[in-house]
Amino acid sequence: MARRLPDMPRIEWPEGRPVPPSTLAVLDRAAEVIRGGGLVAIPTETVYGLAADALDADAVEAIFRAKGRPASNPLIVHVADAVMARSLAASWPEPAARIAEALWPGPVTVVVPRSRVVPDIVTAGGSTVAVRCPGLPLTRLLIERAGRPLAAPSANRSEAVSPTTAHHVLEGLGHRVDLILDAGPCRHGIESTVVDCTTVPPRILRPGPLSRSCIEAALGGAVVDRSHAVEEGTTRSPGTGARHYAPRTRLEAPGDPPARVADLLRQGLRVGWLTFRAADPVTRALAAANDSLIVVPADPDPDGFARALFATLHALDRRALDRLVVDLPPSDEPWLAVRDRIRRAAREAED
Ligand code: TXA
Ligand code: MG
Repeated sequence: MARRLPDMPRIEWPEGRPVPPSTLAVLDRAAEVIRGGGLVAIPTETVYGLAADALDADAVEAIFRAKGRPASNPLIVHVADAVMARSLAASWPEPAARIAEALWPGPVTVVVPRSRVVPDIVTAGGSTVAVRCPGLPLTRLLIERAGRPLAAPSANRSEAVSPTTAHHVLEGLGHRVDLILDAGPCRHGIESTVVDCTTVPPRILRPGPLSRSCIEAALGGAVVDRSHAVEEGTTRSPGTGARHYAPRTRLEAPGDPPARVADLLRQGLRVGWLTFRAADPVTRALAAANDSLIVVPADPDPDGFARALFATLHALDRRALDRLVVDLPPSDEPWLAVRDRIRRAAREAED
């Protein structure tokens, strides 16, 4: 594993144009690192991933070491297409076929029975494997050039906020990675929707950029949402446990954010506040009267909010604040995935 800071080359592929030769050269260099058993931080349309050859148990073990991730938490395997996905599965349930057909490439992961070619360490010894075909064409091109499926969890230390830029990866993992590919900020900004296709009906284990109704439309039938099961301790997706996605600074999502922020300021604390109320006179008055308050306006659109959330948490985490306060968005469907991430980040603070 690398001891010095890794190279962080910029890669681009302007839409509708041939792949620039400089980009191909960087992808081939990355493919070589992968084939040599190394670790490459890769852009995807959701968050940056920490990738290694999924069929090389030693390389995958290096992912767990670099992240400080418990061996009990299985990894998602990234594939170039559905054919590669099926080569990793003992069987290909109808729901997986429908999701792959309708929504791949894209930000949804299917859990299917695992083939013996997948090393135990990838699945944490379990009988299923999680696979996804990423929406970013650059990621699929890298998989093709490497000629291997890529095991890739989010490229952060275990329990920290997921990275949505190459700089977040450098800050969080630095010398633990051999190479970081920089393709700019991620389009979705939160991790893929995870759907368990081994049960009838299929179950959503983690909400993500593709909503429940989008998954149901692809399946032509109902799914069960089990993402809340983490709160009951009965989840089958170990990495969706409560202690996840948390910044270092304590984070709260209170019922009455303006009152709570005023209260924290009265206690003499320095506060960062991600809020839908940035333009309200009350908020402006609070900010004008307190140097120790940073107000960050929240995007009223769920996709925009998701895209900015982790980057905002990373940025506020660098400001030596005592507390982060986040307005909890509405509880209707388009907001479910970001509410899930905010609640987890806040729960960590209570431990
Ligand atoms: O968008 C994403 O999914 C990103 C990018 C890099 O692709 N990856 C990602 O990986 O979020 P990670 O490891 O941070 O989260 C993977 C989630 C965890 O909650 C893990 O427990 C779950 O998927 N998972 C993996 N394999 C599973 C399996 N066989 N059964 C159930 N859950 C599984
Ligand atoms: Mg993660």
